[in-house]
Amino acid sequence: MNDFTYQYPVKVYFGEKAVQKNLSSELAKVGQNVMLAYGGGSIKKNGIYEELIEILNNAGKNVTELSEIMSNPTYAKVQEGASLARENSIDFILAVGGGSVIDCCKIVSAQANLDKDIWEMEYTEHKNPTEFIPMGAVVTAFGTGAEMNNGAVITNEEKMQKSALWGAFYDFAILEPAYTMTMPIKQVVSGSFDALSHCMETYMGSPREVNLSDEINEACQRNIIRNLRATLKNPQDITARSELIWAAAMGENGILKIGKVTDFQAHMLEHQLGAYTDCNHGQGLAVIHPTLYRHMLPEAAPQFARLAVNVWDISPYGKSDEQLANEFIDALSALIKEVGLPTTFTDMGIPDDTDFKAIADSTVKTAGCCKKFTSGELLEVLGECK
Ligand code: NZQ
Ligand code: ZN
Repeated sequence: MNDFTYQYPVKVYFGEKAVQKNLSSELAKVGQNVMLAYGGGSIKKNGIYEELIEILNNAGKNVTELSEIMSNPTYAKVQEGASLARENSIDFILAVGGGSVIDCCKIVSAQANLDKDIWEMEYTEHKNPTEFIPMGAVVTAFGTGAEMNNGAVITNEEKMQKSALWGAFYDFAILEPAYTMTMPIKQVVSGSFDALSHCMETYMGSPREVNLSDEINEACQRNIIRNLRATLKNPQDITARSELIWAAAMGENGILKIGKVTDFQAHMLEHQLGAYTDCNHGQGLAVIHPTLYRHMLPEAAPQFARLAVNVWDISPYGKSDEQLANEFIDALSALIKEVGLPTTFTDMGIPDDTDFKAIADSTVKTAGCCKKFTSGELLEVLGECK
């Protein structure tokens, strides 16, 4: 295991009535002017909006709303939020939604305190922001684990880049399983696959020999697979859903990454696919993962073989690492089909004439991946995903 320092800044409130039990006391610690940020309106249909407005009113806050944060949030939306925050002297941001709202607000919170353009600052000057508007997150869609980290995946439409910007950590995140019960099943599935992907991408980094972080990771992967199946069998199963919410948070709360350099090559490729097609993140990953993993197999066989045995219960007897690795990828592909995720870009509605070469060329090639992909090989992968 590599050397590490571990400390975590996000306070998590998890469980039944977690919002009613904890939001008021957190609001008592922050200033008067609160930005309530949310997405396209699901919170107005399922009653979450009314519940939060009542708590905010009872706390005597002046509420400014940042609404219509889209899936795959854009840099333009970040700038809109930052201007609104400045105009209204916002003291605190309450982000309510899934990864898109939660990510957008991390950068609003930083950009509002900066005179310069945060994208240029991070990518040209290689400096990260240090001052933020404090924030809290209420998670309504699980999967990304975005509430647990300070990376925000933002689509810069002008630059055709969907990339991470570094923003603020949330001061607290409220994970109330009941708030996720109205998630469309398609989002439950893609979010769960995203969470599984985060675990696999972390596992496939280095060091590659057995270590505690990876053994905890294996448990998270088993948990996600089991509870996704249980949730599909009975979408009202709050226990299974609660497990999924926490497993998704575990994927991004740093614990699985302790002592590791992560892989995340599938994510980098999917993010650029998203920059060009605005596709659903978890679905894009489901199409890319098996194909990318077939290309990684010669370098990745020992780690894939461990996943085969320890996560997928594949019998190791008399089998080489290569055989087990192939069986792992077969099992992953079978799960993708079983849960109704797409298996090709065509299934996702991505047109054949998409500029896949530009996507491959602009994809970050990650340091932690066991195979050093070139743009040409990534283009091959994309071609096989069509
Ligand atoms: O916008 P509304 O109307 O709220 O509807 C949303 C949206 O359409 C809906 N939804 C959320 N909660 C709901 C609900 N519908 C009914 N009931 C509820 N309780 O779900 C849809 C998807 O929401 P979104 O936030 O876009 O999905 P997700 O959580 O998958 O986030 C995706 C974004 O996160 C980024 C992705 O790239 C993408 O931009 N990621 C962020 C990461 C991070 N910061 O750590 C890591 C990930 O790898 C990922 O890249
Ligand atoms: Zn992801």
